[in-house]
Amino acid sequence: MSDAREFVRALADESAAFWRGRDVRQDPEAAPAVRLAQLRARMRQGVYNELRSVELIAAWLPHVPEREIRDLLPGQLDDEHRHYRLLRQRMLDLGEDPDGFRPLPEWEALFDWLVACRTRPTWEKLAMFQFAGETQSCEGFETLIALARDVDPESADLYRTAILPDEYKHAAIGRRALTLLCDSPARQAAARAACREMNDRVFGAYQSHRARVDAAPR
Ligand SMILES: [Fe+2]
Ligand SMILES: [Fe+2]
Repeated sequence: MSDAREFVRALADESAAFWRGRDVRQDPEAAPAVRLAQLRARMRQGVYNELRSVELIAAWLPHVPEREIRDLLPGQLDDEHRHYRLLRQRMLDLGEDPDGFRPLPEWEALFDWLVACRTRPTWEKLAMFQFAGETQSCEGFETLIALARDVDPESADLYRTAILPDEYKHAAIGRRALTLLCDSPARQAAARAACREMNDRVFGAYQSHRARVDAAPR
């Protein structure tokens, strides 16, 4: 078991090293008006991503036989649905039409791919979404909150109090699953490859997201 713990620590370090400087969705140096536009773009996409997260966990649940991990997933599903409703309401309050938003094809493809991975082993699936994806989400939300504080304090507060604490719990589910299940070199290699594949795909989505926001008229 200590071996699995060591593996999870090393993989977390590798993943953090991959992400250094790669979350290009928001620019800390930008003028307030640009930061507000970048924030809104993330919030619009966020409504979609939270709802797809609900769908994803529902699709994965029948394919997670390990009781200890299976028990944690309905709680995460519930959290993501709450995030969806809170963010959607915030967009409505801001005068936006969250239901008319067309998601970026890259995000849509990312969630379609994750749903299609449902029959892969639990240590691969959770390496992708909870371990790699949710850990990067936490980093991303920390950045979002810091950059939103002066341009939209109410949204910053919503993320800080009602979303971020749950996302830390979701990332912990990923670490727990890998610590519990990655007890052989073969499983560790498969989890590492899954984590890398997810990080590459998420980075691709971030780049497209930023390009789209930069190209949009303000
Ligand atoms: Fe969420
Ligand atoms: Fe989450």
